[in-house]
Amino acid sequence: MDKIIIAIDGYSSCGKSTLAKGMASRLRYIYIDSGAMYRAVTLFFLRHNVSLDDAEQTRQAVENITISFNADNRTILNGEDVENEIRQMEVSNHVSQVSALPVVRRALVRQQQAMGQQKGIVMDGRDIGTVVFPNAELKIFLTADPEKRVQRRFEELKSKGIKSSVEDVRQNLSQRDRIDSTRGDSPLRQATDAIVIDNTQMTRDEQLAYALELAYSAGAVVE
Ligand code: DC
Repeated sequence: MDKIIIAIDGYSSCGKSTLAKGMASRLRYIYIDSGAMYRAVTLFFLRHNVSLDDAEQTRQAVENITISFNADNRTILNGEDVENEIRQMEVSNHVSQVSALPVVRRALVRQQQAMGQQKGIVMDGRDIGTVVFPNAELKIFLTADPEKRVQRRFEELKSKGIKSSVEDVRQNLSQRDRIDSTRGDSPLRQATDAIVIDNTQMTRDEQLAYALELAYSAGAVVE
């Protein structure tokens, strides 16, 4: 076995995408940010005023959405590069409600599973090790101190030129944590066979080195 599936789950702003990108680049694997897919659906719903309580409207909207990633890993919604827009607070404030809808989850999980058919993929999200790839060879559950996560997300938004306050970020994270882990359909939880990494006190390089060791032990081969 040379190519494996790596699932990375955890709360918002634990550094999942940084780790996932780093691993994918070192292993020459595909990297998929599943949260970006839920964010793209949320942007579409906001733009088209889709009512979350209207089953027919949500079903039709989901049918009209095609999401892909370009070579730079930017999110493409129906042909349009929406990478910047999906990171704005407006989307962050609605994405948990949209991603709790079973009709949305069914469509995206199907696409995500298709993306992993050839293996050689690192995907990060909330339900990757539990629902999307329950047979993934390596499952990582990332955690970090909540206040550290707030600071990291605030700095990240600032560096992207997105306006927010520390308090807005704190509220958004705690609200998303609550909704993501208590929703009825595939809530965020640690897979029983996931390896937990608490990166509060780790540098990016330390975390990456440790996770790569886990990947090699799980069967990944250095190119
Ligand atoms: O990873 P992120 O913070 O960009 O994800 C945005 C939201 O999408 C998150 O609050 C919950 C939802 N999500 C999900 O429900 N399932 C996933 N696999 C990934 C994200």
